[in-house]
Amino acid sequence: MTGAKDPLLNVENLRVEIDFNGAWVPLVDDVSFSVKPGETLGLVGESGSGKSVSAMSLMGFMGRQRGQRLSGTAAFQGKDLLRLNDRELESMRGNEIAMVFQEPMTSLDPAFKVGHQIAAGIRVHQHVTAAQAKEMAIEAMDKVRIPSARVRADSYPHEFSGGMRQRVLIAMAIANNPSMLIADEPTTALDVSVQAQILALLTEMKEDLGLAMIFITHNMGVVADICDRLAVMYAGQIVEEGDVFETFAAPQHPYTDRLLAAMPSIASRRGSLEWIPGSPPKPTDFPAGCRFAPRCRHRLDSCEQPTTLLEISPGRSNRCLRGNTWMEENES
Ligand SMILES: Nc1ncnc2c1ncn2[C@@H]1O[C@H](COP(=O)(O)OP(=O)(O)OP(=O)(O)O)[C@@H](O)[C@H]1O
Ligand SMILES: [Mg+2]
Repeated sequence: MTGAKDPLLNVENLRVEIDFNGAWVPLVDDVSFSVKPGETLGLVGESGSGKSVSAMSLMGFMGRQRGQRLSGTAAFQGKDLLRLNDRELESMRGNEIAMVFQEPMTSLDPAFKVGHQIAAGIRVHQHVTAAQAKEMAIEAMDKVRIPSARVRADSYPHEFSGGMRQRVLIAMAIANNPSMLIADEPTTALDVSVQAQILALLTEMKEDLGLAMIFITHNMGVVADICDRLAVMYAGQIVEEGDVFETFAAPQHPYTDRLLAAMPSIASRRGSLEWIPGSPPKPTDFPAGCRFAPRCRHRLDSCEQPTTLLEISPGRSNRCLRGNTWMEENES
């Protein structure tokens, strides 16, 4: 039995490596986080920080191919996601954990009616007739507020707007009542007004269905709106993890501090939009010590040592070798 407070997903020391000209190069390493039932974890960080690689490896889409390897554990309902066989992976995907991607068109088959595609996903996991699956598909489309769902079930993907296509994918994701949803930048390809509608829908779904969610984004504003906790990634590692409210009030890692300073609402309070000079290192050039040090205005010589993510208080962790002693230098 798992208690109400036990994590639904507990990832420890996830490492994904690729063979780069005969040498193993880590794309992500020492990634640890957990998600409780019904909780939304925001996974944030600049482009290339390893957000998608982390998510894809949990779903079995990365790290298993030739020239790639995985280590660590990802405990989910008594199983280790990193060690499922192909059959177990098939049955987990979409059924226990569903994933929604950035570009809805690439996840839909242009040749089939959307109702048919949702129904097909239902029949992979549930023993129902085609007619029953079609009814369940229409119900799922209704749930995600696609108007005239019964009629629209007979439309093809190209007959939907971008926002409606993303609703179709969300319908597909929830159709088998998963306990967790991984959304990888689900609104990035959409207009701003449609983005807000999809975020509102995801929030509603998570509340109505008690879904746990990993929400991947580079937008701290979105994290503030919909996440309970956040994990900040930099150069393949998590640098800070904690409650959203506490982290926004007092970020513990200089990188989180800079990300927040670059948020328009916070920047206007501080008087300027501050971005971090330089760019993150590529996996082939990760420094041996703190990976953010070359861009960090608080770095000391001692920052050349390897770092670990340390729990600093219950539910909060920080990877900065200086702890929070850098903070007093911030106001200058
Ligand atoms: N299949 C792959 N083979 C080799 N390198 C890869 C592969 N997929 C991703 N990478 C590299 O791994 C690193 C992490 O990529 P990832 O896609 O996880 O970043 P991300 O945080 O999702 O970025 P974005 O915000 O742009 O989506 C990047 O350096 C990327 O180039
Ligand atoms: Mg990505």
